[in-house]
Amino acid sequence: MSTDIKQRKVDHLDLCATDAVAFKNQTNLLGDVRLMHQSLPDLALSDLDLRVNLLGKELRAPIVIAAMTGGTDRAADVNHTLAAVANDRGYGFGLGSQRAMQKSPETAWTYQVRERAPNVLLMGNVGVVQARDMKTSEVQAMLDAIGADALCIHLNPAMELVQPGGDRDFRDGTATLKRFVQELDVPVVAKETGNGVSAETAKRLAETGVRYVDVSGAGGTSWVGVEALRAEGVERALGEMLWDWGVPTAAAVHYAAREGLTVIATGGIRTGYDIARAIALGATAGGIARFVFQAFQQGGREGADRFLDQVEQELRAVMLLSGCRTIDELRRAPRIIRGELRDWMGHHADTHAR
Ligand SMILES: Cc1cc2nc3c(=O)[nH]c(=O)nc-3n(C[C@H](O)[C@H](O)[C@H](O)COP(=O)(O)O)c2cc1C
Repeated sequence: MSTDIKQRKVDHLDLCATDAVAFKNQTNLLGDVRLMHQSLPDLALSDLDLRVNLLGKELRAPIVIAAMTGGTDRAADVNHTLAAVANDRGYGFGLGSQRAMQKSPETAWTYQVRERAPNVLLMGNVGVVQARDMKTSEVQAMLDAIGADALCIHLNPAMELVQPGGDRDFRDGTATLKRFVQELDVPVVAKETGNGVSAETAKRLAETGVRYVDVSGAGGTSWVGVEALRAEGVERALGEMLWDWGVPTAAAVHYAAREGLTVIATGGIRTGYDIARAIALGATAGGIARFVFQAFQQGGREGADRFLDQVEQELRAVMLLSGCRTIDELRRAPRIIRGELRDWMGHHADTHAR
């Protein structure tokens, strides 16, 4: 593998082990959703049913460990361990970009998690620009090599513009998504990487035939920030300026759900309450990247499990206190929407915009 990609993967994990890559002044706006407290839920905690169907598989709880890494020994440890965690807990699991695997097939083992995670909902990952320049059969072969149930095609123009040597030509993204939706054996998830999905993009995705979206909204890990910290000169300054750019997670979930898309909500999800709020806005599952990685980094597999126990316990508590027995009921739970999120929700797709 090129030393460039290898170094980038190392930098990404090092930077994401810290909080220096959080958004600075923009939250994901999930805090603007308040679920109504119900003093008479008439439910036992043990009655709750957290199961959801996502991408053709049943999850035991509406949680996904979102795409992070691949290609290096350390990435292999993250993938193998966290995929096993997701498998055993009944969550979904996303592999990081398979670009390293495309360039260096000998790194495939760092993405191959099926032995330890035979039943997990497993999502492969490529960038839309990379996918544009590949044959469908090449991408299908990369998915077959890891036993993926779905492919996340990531859309990350902001991050690329700030990345030294990153992509600068984003033409034909829509046509690329359309091709893969039509030609792959597995479903496609259109996935942002920390800048969220607008009303316009959500509409475009729905029109293109995409059924699934991971909104990866603003307010969590800033991937522009990650690249800014790796850049110098003009790109560093650009990254500082765009650090908080994007559509906050809560607004992006609303836009995508309004278009009838099945939504995974990533972008600053830290608690079970965050997941409950995202589901109330129309998501099917919440996705977590950096906070799971940090828990793993600090406490290994047990650390990741402890963190996720906490998230599930919070989700169950919030469901009970909102009077919801199932995830479907949570989707319709009485809520108050306030503050900045109301402004974003009032925006409808401008059909003249890209
Ligand atoms: C260390 C790390 C590496 C990541 N690498 C990828 C990647 O290769 N492909 C991708 O689609 N998203 C990648 N992401 C983005 C996450 O999947 C997620 O959408 C984003 O970080 C927002 O979630 P968070 O706020 O929980 O971190 C990465 C995130 C982290 C923390």
